[in-house]
Amino acid sequence: MLDVPNKPEKSFADGKILRGIADGVGVVTFNNPDKRNAMSLDMWEGLGQALVELRDDPDVRVVIMVGAGDKAFVSGADISQFEKTRHNAAASEEYSKKSAAQRALLADYPKPTIACIRGFCLGGGMQVAMLADIRIASDTSQFGIPAARLGIAYGYDGLKHLVSLVGPSWARLLMYTGMRIDSAEAVRIGLVDRVVADAELWNATTEIARTISGNAPLAIQAAKITIAQVLKDESQRDMDAIKDIGNACMDSEDFREGRQAFMEKRKPQFKGR
Ligand code: COA
Repeated sequence: MLDVPNKPEKSFADGKILRGIADGVGVVTFNNPDKRNAMSLDMWEGLGQALVELRDDPDVRVVIMVGAGDKAFVSGADISQFEKTRHNAAASEEYSKKSAAQRALLADYPKPTIACIRGFCLGGGMQVAMLADIRIASDTSQFGIPAARLGIAYGYDGLKHLVSLVGPSWARLLMYTGMRIDSAEAVRIGLVDRVVADAELWNATTEIARTISGNAPLAIQAAKITIAQVLKDESQRDMDAIKDIGNACMDSEDFREGRQAFMEKRKPQFKGR
């Protein structure tokens, strides 16, 4: 089992975002449990800083995002900031710009990301979870986007991810009602990938992370880049990027190592080159 998130090495946003690294796995913790890990603008900024550090650390091969405490992954944006920072269209645009850079960073993150979800995953929490490559949830989790209850427009990017995961019909049901659904329903509609017993959540998530971190980084990057291109409109697709990463992968030391290790019946040691 990984030694994180209980022993984070660095904190951001006054301790409300934590960052740890163990066994090639980076962990970002949303640490505002008294507010069910509601995200303030400072936390968005801290999330960005933590992600950049993990991105630039060559020892980190995969990143897990997790909420502190047992009640929530992230309960959405911090509503107590809205009166000052998001009270009309102009303020809301400013507000969105501040978190947009961090969302873009996560959307284009070069390393695999996993959302480890326990408890409430609402609004902006769903946005973070949907931007991750993979979502593992405990059987106690609840999901929803209460934008219609608050009078908020959820925006293009958030809805694009929702529609691509659950389809337009479930996206409409969730958005029009603002309803919360449980893990069983979430996994059934494709919003999360795997649901496990609450006590198993961290082990199940870190096992997947460790498997990823032991695999060939360039092959994973090739899959990540190619899947991202598949999701784009045909006219926007960068087929050269797919070709380039494919060539880098097939010419890599790691591919040689993968072949040799198989023939020698041993575990491969991948270097990411
Ligand atoms: N923003 C700001 N504060 C929040 C918050 C949010 N998104 N979510 C929870 N909190 C705060 C509550 O105000 C409460 O603060 P208090 O202790 O000072 O009263 C504290 O966190 C605990 O929340 P509480 O509602 O008492 O806990 P609960 O377990 O009964 O319910 C939620 C948890 C998450 C279901 C409920 O707090 C909620 O509906 N939050 C808002 C979710 C939302 O609308 N998110 C979308 C925002 S765009």
